[in-house]
Amino acid sequence: MDEPTFRTIIEPFRIHSVEPIRMTTAAERADRIAGASYNLFQLHADDVLIDLLTDSGTGAMSRDQWAAIQRGDESYAGSPSYFVFRDAVRDLFDFDHVIPVHQGRAAERILFSVLGGPGRVVPNNTHFDTTRANVEATGAEAVDLVIAEGRDPASHHPFKGNMDLDALDALLTARGADVPCVFVTITNNSGGGQPVSLENLRGVRELCDKLGKPLFLDACRFAENAWFIREREAGQGERDVVDIVRDIAALADGMTMSAKKDPMGNIGGWLALDDPDLAQECRNALILTEGFPTYGGLAGRDLEALAQGLKETVQHDYLRYRITSTAYLGEALQKAGIPVLSPIGGHAVYIDARALLPHLDPLQYPGQAVAVALYEIGGVRSCEIGTVMFGRRPDGTEAPAPMDLVRLAIPRRTYTQSHMDYVIEVCQRLAERAHRLPGYRIVEEPNALRHFTARFEPVH
Ligand code: F0G
Repeated sequence: MDEPTFRTIIEPFRIHSVEPIRMTTAAERADRIAGASYNLFQLHADDVLIDLLTDSGTGAMSRDQWAAIQRGDESYAGSPSYFVFRDAVRDLFDFDHVIPVHQGRAAERILFSVLGGPGRVVPNNTHFDTTRANVEATGAEAVDLVIAEGRDPASHHPFKGNMDLDALDALLTARGADVPCVFVTITNNSGGGQPVSLENLRGVRELCDKLGKPLFLDACRFAENAWFIREREAGQGERDVVDIVRDIAALADGMTMSAKKDPMGNIGGWLALDDPDLAQECRNALILTEGFPTYGGLAGRDLEALAQGLKETVQHDYLRYRITSTAYLGEALQKAGIPVLSPIGGHAVYIDARALLPHLDPLQYPGQAVAVALYEIGGVRSCEIGTVMFGRRPDGTEAPAPMDLVRLAIPRRTYTQSHMDYVIEVCQRLAERAHRLPGYRIVEEPNALRHFTARFEPVH
């Protein structure tokens, strides 16, 4: 019999334990968001109905991950759980040194505390905000070199996360001595969850080899990236995702990882690399703030959960569901006339707020306006990724970010299709009232990572 095909995207799991979510009224939401100074990070999560703020640490763990937690060994040094974790990491990313940390930014801080410093410059396709902040905190410069298509929300390029190889070549030629390493973020989160091709990674590798520079991956969403390679890159369509991941890893000298994304953890991360001297320096830095190198700020049970999560995240049924269900949301928004970044990314749908609210200047934060409206309309929490997040320069001046996006990030294995249908309806209401949404101004902000704590006011 031919394999029957179905339109419905089936969640490849049954629900095993449930978490209640609380309905609120429009009046309550207006009150809560004003009380949070229009900053969605300041809301109490109980006041949120569908939480698409982030896909980080918010996914549902599997039965087998909870079982693995029971096996956690909490020895301070040399815990068997460390070795289970290390071997699971190495099965995909075969680096000599695997150093657990409590989350991705700890790996960044440790690595850049060794490799950064004034006068240094770190290229990346697009630095995530914590990555940029950790580079800049050492006095080094963070440079984004994504291809031009990656900055154009309407471009349909299949690998919009790719590095601009000419720009990287030019930077390495002009300032090679100042570059301690080259980074590639897979998928490119700040650029819209867009993948990087194997071919592009090979090109980056060649340039790194030419100048003897190590290549590091910021690999939080590596499985989604590998799935896109399988779907979109010539000659990859019949391959197992695991083999694609191993190919990606083989091109790099090391990686930072937030295990709160594709590794299906609620917490965790790692730094992995081949260079023994650099690894030793990083371990020394780790001990100062994170803990002993076989637990790195995590409990043994966390390490076990991550080892199991790594096995689940590369399963084809899971990845097919993950990518098609994200596209389901994105395509429905397009049908509703909402400009979204295309192609639809892996972990999130990004609304192009600058295009949706042409009456607002980027410095009136159109992304913030959309994010606040989605909450006010239907209790949906999203995240501005635009001028609020990236507009403030280290010297305190302000300029529009390349794009003003609002990210609807989808926690892994957490919401069902009817939850997404509700989000689609909320977005339809947003489209109806978009032309009259107010802009915002910042009334108080910190020096770095201002989006977490800034206080806003609507500008009527
Ligand atoms: N790199 C990328 C590409 C990320 O998306 C994140 C986190 C990090 C590094 C830092 O990892 O949070 O474990 O310290 N991204 C989350 C997000 C916060 O919402 O996209 P972390």
